[in-house]
Amino acid sequence: MGSSSHKVVNGTIELDRPVIESAVICRLSPSCVKDVAEIEAESNTPPWTEQLFSYEFNNRCSRVYGARVAGRIVGFLVCHVIEDEAHIMNFGLRRDERGRGYGRELIQYVLRDLHEDSVHWVTLEVRKGNAVARRLYDSLGFLEVGLRERYYRDNQEDALVLKLNLQQFINQFGSDSAAT
Ligand SMILES: CC(C)(COP(=O)(O)OP(=O)(O)OC[C@H]1O[C@@H](n2cnc3c(N)ncnc32)[C@H](O)[C@@H]1OP(=O)(O)O)[C@@H](O)C(=O)NCCC(=O)NCCS
Repeated sequence: MGSSSHKVVNGTIELDRPVIESAVICRLSPSCVKDVAEIEAESNTPPWTEQLFSYEFNNRCSRVYGARVAGRIVGFLVCHVIEDEAHIMNFGLRRDERGRGYGRELIQYVLRDLHEDSVHWVTLEVRKGNAVARRLYDSLGFLEVGLRERYYRDNQEDALVLKLNLQQFINQFGSDSAAT
């Protein structure tokens, strides 16, 4: 959530840019399933159901991460980890919290966490037309390694397969979230 700050210069009040709180990122527990499904409903088509998320919470290879701001869950990311590879299965931010840096904070935290657990590669699929997500992944160093034609059943849109070398990400962004 944003709030305003101000300073007084020569007796006049100057408003600064809104102060955006940092998100607190952590692994979520099954009790968060309703919040996650609510965010999913405004993020992806067709949305995963609560039942599907419950399955993910109980799947041993699955990790569900969340970003909280002022105690409210504003975003989630689900990934599967198998040996030294991870696949991002789902990722979404509340519509009214997008564009504030929380998506970047969340995925960067996850990438560092995976690197600490000796994961070397991260893959994902993204809609060809999802310019916002593609720009984010591109800025993190994901490379296009494949195309799945008409992958999305709702509109037959193609999926791009992206892959990230986690060591290269760490070399560029550091292993400490306070650094970026
Ligand atoms: C994609 C998504 C997770 C990004 O989260 P977010 O909190 O909105 O993104 P951030 O504010 O952290 O911005 C991260 C980057 O995304 C890109 N971005 C964000 N908003 C953008 C916009 N309006 N236009 C273009 N690029 C944008 C930028 O590269 C930005 O980095 P920068 O601010 O350093 O330039 C979020 O928009 C979302 O939930 N979208 C719907 C679901 C979705 O597409 N999920 C991904 C499926 S693969």
